[in-house]
Amino acid sequence: LQQITIRRPCDPHVHFRFGLMLALVAPLHRLFHWSLAMPNVPEIRDADGALDYRLQVERAIGTDGDRAPIIVPTIKLTHATTPRMIARFAGDHYVKAAKLYPCKKGAAAGVTTGSHNGIHDVTLLTDVFKAMQSAGVILCIHAEDPDTADPWLREEAYLPQVEWITSHFPGLRVVIEHISTAVMARFVEDAHANVAATITPHHLRWTRADLYDGGARPHRWCCPVLKTVEDRAAVRRAAWYCERVFFGSDSAPHAIEAKEKDGGAAGIFAPAEITMAAEAGRFLGGEAGLTFGPDLAVYRAHFEQFVSLRAPAFYGLAPAEDTIVLERTDWRVPSSYGGHDGLPTVVPFLAGETLWWRVVPDAAG
Ligand code: NCD
Ligand code: ZN
Repeated sequence: LQQITIRRPCDPHVHFRFGLMLALVAPLHRLFHWSLAMPNVPEIRDADGALDYRLQVERAIGTDGDRAPIIVPTIKLTHATTPRMIARFAGDHYVKAAKLYPCKKGAAAGVTTGSHNGIHDVTLLTDVFKAMQSAGVILCIHAEDPDTADPWLREEAYLPQVEWITSHFPGLRVVIEHISTAVMARFVEDAHANVAATITPHHLRWTRADLYDGGARPHRWCCPVLKTVEDRAAVRRAAWYCERVFFGSDSAPHAIEAKEKDGGAAGIFAPAEITMAAEAGRFLGGEAGLTFGPDLAVYRAHFEQFVSLRAPAFYGLAPAEDTIVLERTDWRVPSSYGGHDGLPTVVPFLAGETLWWRVVPDAAG
């Protein structure tokens, strides 16, 4: 079987949740060298919460032989966040980032799951951004405007707020999360060296047409919503060429009952074995019968840049020293995970589909 080896990947955007959902999903992220744990569910607002959550997730994720996956916690910014809280938070070397969720003023619900208490006016965070800039804490932004009624237009409508932040705080490192539009991809490509972005495997694969594909597809519903063919082409190009653009799974599990109902939750559950196989297929191709020429080395290098090297470089964290192996073999994605021993049932990204590559299980794992 054809095999490729890459440095162990990192996931700079994942929702681990808590309780039984955490117990189910954390081990499925063990493959990554480090994972950046999002602070929305459960809500993490300060250094104590972040350190406690890091330990919870590290316990749940377990170890792989003598390798312990690293959990990098974040805090959620609110209008009650102070520069002092940032200074405390920055004191721990594992703690690297704070997340901005936009939210309408006084609204009970924000622009995505768990974004209530978010930020309605970025200019009110001036002192917090200054503190983050001087402490080297990275700002992660969910860039969608809650005041724009049409969800398909929310990302580009938030661009002025992003530009205000990046122009007023050029020394602040900013990651625009899960970019999904040509407008935002262009902005990031043209931005200064302290501006980066994550892209999810689902925005790289699907467009809005995939939301109604043989019927409504609730397991493809996420924030930001899937966009057009042109938008997908733009984010694919950025993923290939821009050294400040990297993979972020945005794995956001919800139990099947919460997805398959009227008013269902947004979020796509994306275990490591699925996203890495999907991205291998996208970067390397490999349909049955396809033979690889000398270009395989180039494709492999771009794949490794995207999933394993660019995020550590931007975050200032060491990339993994060890590697993972993928092999060219058909692999059928499970139709669900969990559902036993009291664990929730969760339908994953690409459930039931056959992918061309598979992560070779680690002998030690
Ligand atoms: C995320 C979740 O469920 O926590 N949902 C999603 O659709 N991506 C929140 C988020 O990252 O927007
Ligand atoms: Zn997310």
